[in-house]
Amino acid sequence: MRPFWQKDPFQQLKRDLGNKERVLTSPEDLALYSVDATNFKGVPAAVVLAESETDISDVVNFANLNNYTITPRGAGSGLSGGCVPVEGGIVLSFERMNRIENFDVKNRTVIVQPGVVTEKLQLEAAKHGLFYPPDPSSFKISTIGGNVAENAGGLRCFKYGVTGHYVLGIEYIDAHGKLSKTGQFKDNPSEPDLTPLLTGSEGTLGIFTRIKLRLIPAPETTKTILGYFKDSESGLSTVEQIIQTGITPSVMEFIDPIAIGAAASHISAHFPEKAAALLMFEVDGSIAEVESSSKELCDILLNNAVKVVSASDAEERNKLWDLRRAISPSLIRIATGKIHEDIAVPRGKLLRMSGLISDISSKSGLKIAIYGHAGDGNMHVVILFDSSDKLAVRTAKTAAEDVFKAAISIGGTISGEHGIGCAKRDYLKLQLSDPNLNLSRQIKRAFDPQNILNPGKVLPGSTLRK
Ligand code: LAC
Ligand code: ZN
Repeated sequence: MRPFWQKDPFQQLKRDLGNKERVLTSPEDLALYSVDATNFKGVPAAVVLAESETDISDVVNFANLNNYTITPRGAGSGLSGGCVPVEGGIVLSFERMNRIENFDVKNRTVIVQPGVVTEKLQLEAAKHGLFYPPDPSSFKISTIGGNVAENAGGLRCFKYGVTGHYVLGIEYIDAHGKLSKTGQFKDNPSEPDLTPLLTGSEGTLGIFTRIKLRLIPAPETTKTILGYFKDSESGLSTVEQIIQTGITPSVMEFIDPIAIGAAASHISAHFPEKAAALLMFEVDGSIAEVESSSKELCDILLNNAVKVVSASDAEERNKLWDLRRAISPSLIRIATGKIHEDIAVPRGKLLRMSGLISDISSKSGLKIAIYGHAGDGNMHVVILFDSSDKLAVRTAKTAAEDVFKAAISIGGTISGEHGIGCAKRDYLKLQLSDPNLNLSRQIKRAFDPQNILNPGKVLPGSTLRK
């Protein structure tokens, strides 16, 4: 508690916002906004519950005048520490900016505020016969602003691509408190379009206030198919085979035995005894298309898998996808410590990557689970350890670095969809050359010369503001 004789540092901000209840400073509130889904933690000096772009501009002006930094925050479901205020300052929460502003059915677009939950947008689009395909596992809680900031992928990316493929324009408040516009929001069409630069910028270049998204017609029908395999190798080589045939399932997920075990016990599901690895598919399109491609898919699966099943109705499909989405939260139940990475490799090298991960697991003596968006080459690699054992913690960090190096060595990348944040910031130099890193630093300086926007994220060496 602040002693009564000390002036409230946020008095002016509370006046600017016209409602002091929207500036939170109690230790309980600050603790709530100090974490995301990683182990990173940073306690902010204040949390602002923004309700409009004017609020955001007021916060930026206040931060500039009073030497505070700003960390934008959606639902806090991120996996790279992106919304954790590692350097204190102000957390700007979007939970109240959660309106879908304008569904334009004729032009198949929608304008949303950043705090709209992904699932809500998907459900609203479906009511209009439209489809918003990006589908991060956390879609029931994650927000569009966070998805765009991290350029989130998700389950349907093999056929439909990632969030960035659906962003038509962004309105944002820049580091000087000014409203700026990209893409289809631009006032002057001849200006360069900064949409691709802002998408995936992890809150470091501007604070989004409105986002315009592309929608597509909803597929006529969807089918879920599962292939159970005797081991990870046969599952992953089947993925490589399917990709070569040209069939394009909307979803092609791989789950290894450790991840299956964790998720199945979490939601009490049963698996055939001999099955150790699982491929989960969704095939969508017209009834005829789905029929022919699922037949082709099942023929390949029947040659390689222990068992092949299709979900018969929507309820059964939902149960299976609940199982898939339970993996990330359930893995924490089988070990006290986990480092959750999301490398991506060329699709034809999934099997090779899984071999390299087995070697790292043997060398470190640690259990490593692999699951994820196989169709996109995006593997979630989860290193499990005993968090009370200091040696195990160090070994797990070395194993994580070895995983990054292995991915890069076969033409892959250190993050497929979770972003860099503070979790992978210091590993970015394994991936980018010095000239590339310098260019990224110059871009950051051009947008945010005082480094007030989400400091300590993405760029190595960006820890301290001054
Ligand atoms: C998933 C999240 C962790 O795919 O990206 O489950
Ligand atoms: Zn994922």
